[in-house]
Amino acid sequence: EKGGYEHFMLKEIFEQPRSIHDSMRGRLIAANNHLIMGGFREYENKFINAKRIIIVACGTSWHAGLVAEYLIEDLARIPVEVEYASEFRYRNPVITEGDIVIAISQSGETADTLAAIELAKSKGATIFGICNVVGSSIARASDAGAYTHAGPEIGVASTKAFTAQVTVLTLLAMIIGSKRGTIEDSKLRQLMIELENIPAKVEKALELNEKIVEISEEFKDAPNCLYLGRGYNFPVALEGALKLKEISYIHAEGYPAAEMKHGPIALIDENMPVIVIATRDSSYEKIVSNIQEVKARKGRIIAIVTEGDQVIPAMAEYVIEVPETSEFLTPLVSVIPLQLLSYHIAVMRGCNVDQPRNLAKSVTVE
Ligand code: F6R
Repeated sequence: EKGGYEHFMLKEIFEQPRSIHDSMRGRLIAANNHLIMGGFREYENKFINAKRIIIVACGTSWHAGLVAEYLIEDLARIPVEVEYASEFRYRNPVITEGDIVIAISQSGETADTLAAIELAKSKGATIFGICNVVGSSIARASDAGAYTHAGPEIGVASTKAFTAQVTVLTLLAMIIGSKRGTIEDSKLRQLMIELENIPAKVEKALELNEKIVEISEEFKDAPNCLYLGRGYNFPVALEGALKLKEISYIHAEGYPAAEMKHGPIALIDENMPVIVIATRDSSYEKIVSNIQEVKARKGRIIAIVTEGDQVIPAMAEYVIEVPETSEFLTPLVSVIPLQLLSYHIAVMRGCNVDQPRNLAKSVTVE
């Protein structure tokens, strides 16, 4: 059932070209200018007129929510707040009938996320669920929604569900933006084409596997690890750190690269691996200076860069090149090497990657 792979997690990482494709199927055909999402249609006016969108989720799904915040604000110009479901439900949040609450959950059974949407519903908000498991509690409790068609995810560490969530949220941001007239037609068309190309680029990123095995060998005994990113790659840094800690039990932190100088920089010395996601996008120059700051303190830099980068290889100890894509879509590609890195490090440390200690696939208790 693991399809020849040693673990479900590895199988699921390698399934991503397919699961991303499946999550777009029927929703996007660039050549026909076809961009639709069944669950959106009935609530189209609500979305077009929404004053605010609140996203609630936990864990990796919350990271997908952070990517969605950037996407929806960029493409659809609606203010977005992303909340941990567990905080939202207990902090007497301001919710009105004009609000749309997007709940993101792979399992559709996470107790805190379910309770958060029940609360929002009782205040009159519209609930849009993005779940992987068909007929799950969150899917049923939502007014509308869209499934991620990632297929069953068995490994406790979420991988293909994350990229499927980001795919669906990207489509959603594009649809809202196109209906609200906040994206230029030419930009929308370009993004449609580029999104269709993502499965092939993920396939290409998976070819990095051998190289990542080598890098993992080098860092498998590290007690700590720092992940830095900016813009669309900031949530990717958080996700990379979460993947590493949950399956390899190495302490890891993800930070927006510019926050480093407000504290975490104190941790950097010649023993600290620092993984910097520095693809060529609007914050490229800024992150290059952050790499310099790490280098000046002798941190060991592993950089995820865009293919053909001429600057960062001279500064980093290891460079991982990923295919170029639109800035909006960059998380779908840049997260792949981070998933592989955590997987290989965990295997080398003898950890049970599919069933890490203390964790369950769906957290049905608060
Ligand atoms: C991380 C992980 C957890 C889940 C979180 C939410 O790899 O698996 O952090 O992402 O428990 O679960 P869902 O998405 O099922 O609500």
